[in-house]
Amino acid sequence: MPECVLVVGATGNIGVAAVKGALRSGRQVLAIVRNQASADKLYRHVGSSESITIVEASVTSDTGIKGVVDQVKAGVLPPFQHVYTCVGGEYTDVPLKDITTERLRQNMNMSFEANFFAYRDTIGYLLEQNNPNSTWTICTGSQGDDAMFALPAIGQGPLFSMATAAARENEKTNVRMNEVYLMFRVEVDAAAAEHGVSSSSEFASVYEGILANTEIRSSRVRVATPADFKDLKWAKKF
Ligand SMILES: NC(=O)c1ccc[n+]([C@@H]2O[C@H](COP(=O)([O-])OP(=O)(O)OC[C@H]3O[C@@H](n4cnc5c(N)ncnc54)[C@H](OP(=O)(O)O)[C@@H]3O)[C@@H](O)[C@H]2O)c1
Repeated sequence: MPECVLVVGATGNIGVAAVKGALRSGRQVLAIVRNQASADKLYRHVGSSESITIVEASVTSDTGIKGVVDQVKAGVLPPFQHVYTCVGGEYTDVPLKDITTERLRQNMNMSFEANFFAYRDTIGYLLEQNNPNSTWTICTGSQGDDAMFALPAIGQGPLFSMATAAARENEKTNVRMNEVYLMFRVEVDAAAAEHGVSSSSEFASVYEGILANTEIRSSRVRVATPADFKDLKWAKKF
């Protein structure tokens, strides 16, 4: 039976790339979506629903992802050996002084908490399965260091720390934990063509490369230019 990748944030620019990378590597996908409209969006961007199992859950609630893992354990959903997470908040240039408390909390919930839940509530399952090929991957962005856009930048900061902590925790486990640090804009194919940026289909090669290379572990994979899509550059995080 082919391996399966659980993708959290599957319907976004990066999530579609993760789904494409997983499918191109011969794996199946278990995609968490918030509703049927998002599922349809995913199928449209991927071009097919083949080898994709959809489950509806709220990834921003602290029980949503756990509920999905419980269904996997109960045999209702397919078992998975890999996780890719990339839930994101607003991509906006609103200045710091104009960010309301409500907007800040919503964005921290989407950009940080959801990705934290994705780690906290899946890693135990991967460790229990003890599959020697397991991986856990998160996508972050250089926006978190450059802060050209304040709100999305603030959301990235804690993800850097979380990724390093997770890399430490799994240095010697069966799970290869890695962070993809993306330094330029990637969008789903149609939007990418319209805006002249790189596409999810091109970026998918990075995930294929991580899945294929067992030497990439507890590392940051730095994607600085499109040339890095196929020629991966990585370094241990500590
Ligand atoms: N795109 C880039 O160029 C880039 C570069 C560097 C880093 N990153 C990082 O990668 C991550 C994803 O970016 P992206 O461009 O793929 O973002 P995106 O296209 O906006 O996708 C965000 C994903 O999160 C989901 N999501 C957001 N809010 C949600 C909510 N309240 N409830 C349920 N699901 C929610 C979206 O679901 P729906 O489809 O249902 O809305 C979608 O699957 C972010 O952390 C971003 O900072 C992206």
